[in-house]
Amino acid sequence: MDWQRLVNLYDWERAAQEKLSPMVRAYYGGGAADDLSLNANRRVWDTLKLRPRVLVDVSHRNPSTSLMGQPMAYPIVIAPTAMAMLAHPSGESGIAEAAQQRGIIQGVSTLANQSIQTVRQLGATNWMQLYVYKDRQLTERLIQNAQDSRCQALVLTVDAPLLGMRENMMRLGFQLPTGLCFGNFQDVQQTEGAQVLRYIQDQFDPSLTFADLKWLVQNCAMPVWVKGVLRADDAKKAVDCGIRGIVVSNHGGRQLDTAITAAEALPEIALAVGRQVELMVDGGIRRGTDILKALALGARAVMVGRPILWGLALAGAQGVGLVLDILIREFDHAMALSGCAQVQDISSDLLDPHSLLRPGDLAQDRS
Ligand code: FNR
Ligand code: LAC
Repeated sequence: MDWQRLVNLYDWERAAQEKLSPMVRAYYGGGAADDLSLNANRRVWDTLKLRPRVLVDVSHRNPSTSLMGQPMAYPIVIAPTAMAMLAHPSGESGIAEAAQQRGIIQGVSTLANQSIQTVRQLGATNWMQLYVYKDRQLTERLIQNAQDSRCQALVLTVDAPLLGMRENMMRLGFQLPTGLCFGNFQDVQQTEGAQVLRYIQDQFDPSLTFADLKWLVQNCAMPVWVKGVLRADDAKKAVDCGIRGIVVSNHGGRQLDTAITAAEALPEIALAVGRQVELMVDGGIRRGTDILKALALGARAVMVGRPILWGLALAGAQGVGLVLDILIREFDHAMALSGCAQVQDISSDLLDPHSLLRPGDLAQDRS
């Protein structure tokens, strides 16, 4: 395949869909129930209109920024997604290789096929995503493993007390294929061939509260982020627990269907806590202009989920790299055409307020 012919992320999506089995296609691509939040995630970025600045010297552009004081080459982070080996035998390590080469942070799911120790060997910056299991000893072991393998942050996902209604998966009776397991639980239980939906439903702890978040922050040596917040009041409560950052997210439209999009929720959250903690946003980021818009709304960086899996499915680490390179190129281009030489130049006045669903919420320009 001539990869140069896949010029944008939609081309990668189409090509990957052709390659993946119906089961994996359904799991990776699907949303919850009627896919309304899933589809809205795309639409919302398309609807936002830009007000480009002109006659700005953009001959030298710098897309770099920082997160928690650490420099990063681009405001792009790889979202944690479960079971990368369904896409390619190189699995999460394949993603790590591409992330490491580009200085991009990789989120690693609790439900990765490879253990966090294995993924860490590739030398990328890794943020461990945490699902809290009913078995708290098991959960503590997960945190300890992330700590021992020197993950740079822990991301607690808070929007999944139960798994969303994945109807396409229910129809197909989604099972973990023979030979695959959840790498972070190898020594604990035999998960091979598990009915994935039931496994997750049985193991996740739906009793989790802000008190548990506070406990986690106090007992974890790594900085803690939460992922899956969509309201300013929840954001404030999380900040009061001592977290370092929030990923504003509706989980790629896979949890509560008809939940608002992260792009709609971001302004009110940025206004409420944007000066105290750092914010990221995800869901439907497919274009360089989406990244520009996310930053203009108050995010420090975006997370990207499914496109990484499409790249991995088609060409392993190389494919992930090519997908990232397209996004990086498009973001650079969007900066140039909107009159932004640096990430600090991306401010809320770049957005047409009439194209915002809730214009009153737009945060002040970042200082
Ligand atoms: C996810 N997501 C996810 N989130 C999380 O916190 N832990 C997880 O294990 C997973 N697993 C997962 C699997 C698959 C196949 C997908 C598509 C997504 C959600 C993910 O981190 C992110 O929030 C969304 O994917 C972002 O939306 P886009 O970029 O996929 O549109
Ligand atoms: C998913 C879970 C596992 O979205 O986070 O499939």
